[in-house]
Amino acid sequence: MNAIEIKDLRKTFDGEKYILDGITLNIPKGKITVIIGFSGTGKSVLIKHVLGLIRPTSGSINVLGTDIGLLNDEQMIRFRSHFGMLFQDAALFDDFTTIENVLFPIQEFRKDLSKEQKLEIAKLKLSQVGLSEEHYDKLPSELSGGMRKRCGLARAIALDPDILLYDEPTTGLDPVMTETVDNLILNTHNHNRESTTVVISHDLHAAFRLGDHIAMLDGGKVLLEGNAKTFFDSDIDLVQKFVAKGIKHE
Ligand SMILES: Nc1ncnc2c1ncn2[C@@H]1O[C@H](COP(=O)(O)OP(=O)(O)OP(=O)(O)O)[C@@H](O)[C@H]1O
Ligand SMILES: [Mg+2]
Repeated sequence: MNAIEIKDLRKTFDGEKYILDGITLNIPKGKITVIIGFSGTGKSVLIKHVLGLIRPTSGSINVLGTDIGLLNDEQMIRFRSHFGMLFQDAALFDDFTTIENVLFPIQEFRKDLSKEQKLEIAKLKLSQVGLSEEHYDKLPSELSGGMRKRCGLARAIALDPDILLYDEPTTGLDPVMTETVDNLILNTHNHNRESTTVVISHDLHAAFRLGDHIAMLDGGKVLLEGNAKTFFDSDIDLVQKFVAKGIKHE
């Protein structure tokens, strides 16, 4: 069963150049899918379509049985609570403390809960990502990069999303931190086997390590999809280059 079905998705911003030029991709439910590709191939644009932040020029996106093209802006905002999103820079609110950042979506979407219940969820999520209580009242500027990621992830999972999206979670991090974040992604995914994880990356190692399913974008299309073996065995020139680059990287 698929959590997300993308059919013949095309997107042009200027009416001439198609950034996405016929993407057809199924993202299986309960699995980790890694979307890879060189810089500028439209990975972030694709994920923004899935979140309904960008509307397609043509084609369709079905998420958990809903054709999101049929949702109006207000319905889309509500629908977005199915998603947890961790942006590259964690995108925390600078003036909010750690706990306030995690509380934010809970206060927005769980008005049915009492103040204490909301606080309890926020604390649970923070402990799940390994942030201890001494950091709860700190501002993002007082946290390390790794802690900010953890805080962003706690916020992303605050509403127990069906689908977790990560855009370049480890870009710019040192190897030790990269492994920590990769493990965090794996643990978070395994914590709830029902949940679907999508990771955008240009790190082939992460793709091979995390991905049950890997899709590579190029030229606005899916160049290749499959598992690690599919990529190692491929004789597509660009795939070989990507694999070679990933190996050299180590
Ligand atoms: N809102 C926008 N308006 C116009 N062009 C855009 C917009 N968003 C993205 N683009 C263009 O779409 C192309 C793909 O961008 P995108 O950010 O999706 O690449 P990417 O694969 O995520 O790259 P990276 O690995 O560097 O993050 C780029 O040429 C970018 O300039
Ligand atoms: Mg990007």
